[in-house]
Amino acid sequence: MLVAPSILSADFGNLERDVRAICDAGCDFVHVDVMDGHFVPNMTLGPVVVSAIAKAATKPLDIHLMVQNNTFFVDLFAPLKPEFISFHIEEEKNPHRLVQYIRSLGIKPAVVLNPHTPAEAIEYLLEDLDMVLVMSVNPGFGGQKFIPTVVEKIQRLKVLRDRINPNCLIEIDGGVGSSNIQMLASAGVDVCVAGSYVFTADDYKTAIDSLHV
Ligand code: DX5
Ligand code: ZN
Repeated sequence: MLVAPSILSADFGNLERDVRAICDAGCDFVHVDVMDGHFVPNMTLGPVVVSAIAKAATKPLDIHLMVQNNTFFVDLFAPLKPEFISFHIEEEKNPHRLVQYIRSLGIKPAVVLNPHTPAEAIEYLLEDLDMVLVMSVNPGFGGQKFIPTVVEKIQRLKVLRDRINPNCLIEIDGGVGSSNIQMLASAGVDVCVAGSYVFTADDYKTAIDSLHV
């Protein structure tokens, strides 16, 4: 299991310190939640702040867009050279085109499924994706409760993934911690996002280690 702490739960008054700390504690990616106040009822980070995060980070960025006008935001964040940019399938009329566009910029494309969106919604995109992000809370806020019905969706997605594109990673985001990580690994998750679980821990390394199952 790869671990991507969500910077949304960091102390924004000490962002550089917290980004360095999770990287030093052995995380695999730094998960960056970009919210525009339209697709979700919250606003977070623009390119100025994310470039400061990129500067402090010694691990690759995993940028999760929760926005309208995906292409506009891809163009804003692409110069920061993240490892992944993921966008929500519910908010994109031409997902296949956007996937190719993200790849043409030298970034790995990923697509996000909200809790109500079935795994089958991305069946015909899978062969072109590097990762599928399954939301296990409604997007917009850290610290929410895990929605258990997504476990079955992950199992279905894994069947599709194994058949169509075994190299595509499955990532989970929302309500993840040591109490459900083993179950998620068994269901087929390759990468976990964890915000409040990591940042409320006394020791980031112990928390991240406990997710590396
Ligand atoms: C929610 C974000 C998540 C969130 C996860 O919209 O996409 O990345 O920060 O936070 P926890 O792990 O606290 O649920
Ligand atoms: Zn996220």
